[in-house]
Amino acid sequence: MKILITGARGQLARDIVKMGIQKGHEVIPLGHKQLDIVDFTKVQEAISAFNPNVVINCAAYNAVDKAESDWHTALMINGIGPGNLALICHRHRIPLVHFSTDFVFDGRKKCPYTIADIPSPLNKYGQSKLLGEQEVRHLTPYHYLIRVSWVFGAEGKTEVNFAKKVISWAQKGEKLRIVADQISSPSYTPDVAQAVLELIQTGRFGLYHIANSGYCSRYEWAKFILKKMGWTGELCPAKSDEFQAIAKRPPFSALDTFPLKEVIKYQLPDWQEATERFLKEFLKI
Ligand SMILES: NC(=O)c1ccc[n+]([C@@H]2O[C@H](COP(=O)([O-])OP(=O)(O)OC[C@H]3O[C@@H](n4cnc5c(N)ncnc54)[C@H](OP(=O)(O)O)[C@@H]3O)[C@@H](O)[C@H]2O)c1
Repeated sequence: MKILITGARGQLARDIVKMGIQKGHEVIPLGHKQLDIVDFTKVQEAISAFNPNVVINCAAYNAVDKAESDWHTALMINGIGPGNLALICHRHRIPLVHFSTDFVFDGRKKCPYTIADIPSPLNKYGQSKLLGEQEVRHLTPYHYLIRVSWVFGAEGKTEVNFAKKVISWAQKGEKLRIVADQISSPSYTPDVAQAVLELIQTGRFGLYHIANSGYCSRYEWAKFILKKMGWTGELCPAKSDEFQAIAKRPPFSALDTFPLKEVIKYQLPDWQEATERFLKEFLKI
């Protein structure tokens, strides 16, 4: 397959590029500088010029707090950009993979969110991602719309990766307070990449949740990471209110991945095992 990847310097994109090449696909990675997905004409030109078999959109605006004030930029990148890709892909009958987030949910449910649950975002970032979902669904039937949560991988920026943030805080301090009232499903980028590359072979378009199995609070996840690192400092559970973040976060946004296993024939490993692989790759431990 010839796979065009947008936002190709992001953490998930890098693993999709790496794995796509390993699997023998022809991969065209376009970073932000090579293709701004907000620019309709440029999107049109790139898709006509490369004529890929599938487009995977990894471009996103992920600054959750900043999106509260920088609302217009978040909407353009997370809403209008995916719409541009969907419209052009549909014209060329090219399947489009697009990623969304657990933050489209309000987090009031007490068990994992399924693809049948109705989104109701609590913050502007979630609203902008929901607009992207709507644009993609309305503008092309040939879509794989994939929600992921708490994305982490060895590549890419620390700001968008909670596991890397924990490691960096631990390397700088002896005492950490981590919220115990935000619960979700960590999604390890090589595992997501593998599942996405399997999914696009099936032709089973539609909405999917892809995450590692199980769920945890940020506190539990940090505790697991710090123990594996052999960190000797003090870790305390905290409440979200204590940090006065600008954007509200859903308290419980774990993802139920049904029917992914029925479609790609396997379930992603649990988050503990994925975190161990991440630590091995990132910290060599
Ligand atoms: N990180 C998480 O915890 C998380 C959680 C849930 C869902 N997701 C979703 O998962 C997907 C992958 O996330 P990620 O963590 O891999 O993101 P990431 O590392 O932040 O990568 C996003 C990439 O998009 C690029 N970009 C921004 N605006 C663009 C534009 N207008 N045109 C083209 N490229 C643009 C960025 O480049 P610059 O930096 O140069 O602007 C960056 O390289 C995204 O859809 C994200 O919303 C992520």
